[in-house]
Amino acid sequence: MSDGATLQIVLLGPPGAGKGTQAALLVRKLGIPHVSTGEILRGEITRGTERGDQARVFMEQGRLVPDELVLDLVRGRLASSDCEQGFLLDGFPRSTIQAEELCRMIAGRTKRFMAASIVVSDEEIVRRLAGRRTCTSCGAIFHLEFEPPRQPDACDKCGGALVQREDDREEVIQRRLRIYRRDTEPLLDYYRAKNRLLEVGGQASVEAVQSQLLAGLGLRS
Ligand code: AP5
Repeated sequence: MSDGATLQIVLLGPPGAGKGTQAALLVRKLGIPHVSTGEILRGEITRGTERGDQARVFMEQGRLVPDELVLDLVRGRLASSDCEQGFLLDGFPRSTIQAEELCRMIAGRTKRFMAASIVVSDEEIVRRLAGRRTCTSCGAIFHLEFEPPRQPDACDKCGGALVQREDDREEVIQRRLRIYRRDTEPLLDYYRAKNRLLEVGGQASVEAVQSQLLAGLGLRS
C-alpha cells in the first residue's frame, strides 16, 4: 500500500494493549519500518552490549530505561535511510521528555504524523500478558488462548523457541501499569492538544482493532 510512504505513526497504549501485534500488521501493509524500543533494547541485552547491561536491570523490574539511553538509540534508528519515507514507533515516546525530543528529531521532515492509542482495561492486560509467548528468533507474538501457536513452545513462522518474557510476571506487570499511568498516559493529552491523537478500542479482536486503526489513520483496510 503506497499511502504509508510518508506516514509517521506513534503507537501508544499500556503494556499488553496489543501495540506489537498491531504494529507488525500495519508495517506489513504500509511498507514502513517498525521501530520498537522494547525490541531494540532486548536486542542490546541479547548481544551483551554495554547499553544492554545498563537497560537490563530497569527492564527486569518493569521500570523505564533512562531517557538518555533510549533517546540515543531512537535518534540513531530514525536517522537510518529506511526511515526517511516514514516509520512506525512502538513503545516510544513514553514520557513528555521523550515526546518533546521526538518532535525535535522529526522537525522539518514531518509529513503525516499521528499518535494512535490502543485502549484496554487493566483486567484484560493481565490476561494478555500472562498468556503471551514471544519467539526468540523472529520476535513473532502469540497468546496461548487468543492467538495460539500450533505447538506451545515453537514459533509457527520460523520454528524458533517460544518464551515468556521476564517482565510478564504478575508483580512486574502491576509496576509497568503504574508507571504507564504516571509517565506515559499524560502523552494522550499532549497529542490531543496538538490534534494528533487517535484513540481505538483495543478489547476487540486483532482484526477489528486493525480495521479501526486503518480507518482512523485514513488508510484503506
Ligand atoms: P516494550 O517491549 O515496549 O513493552 P510494553 O510497552 O510494556 O508493551 P508490550 O510489548 O508488553 O505489549 P504490547 O502492547 O506490544 O502487546 P502485544 O502486541 O505483545 O517495553 C518493555 C520494557 O522496555 C519497558 O518496560 C521498559 O523497561 C523498556 N522500554 C521500552 N521502551 C522504552 C522507552 N521508550 N523508554 C524507556 N524504557 C523503555 O500483545 C500482548 C498479548 O496479547 C500477546 O500475547 C498477543 O497475542 C495478545 N493480543 C494482542 N492483541 C489482542 C487482541 N486484540 N485480542 C486478544 N489478544 C490480543
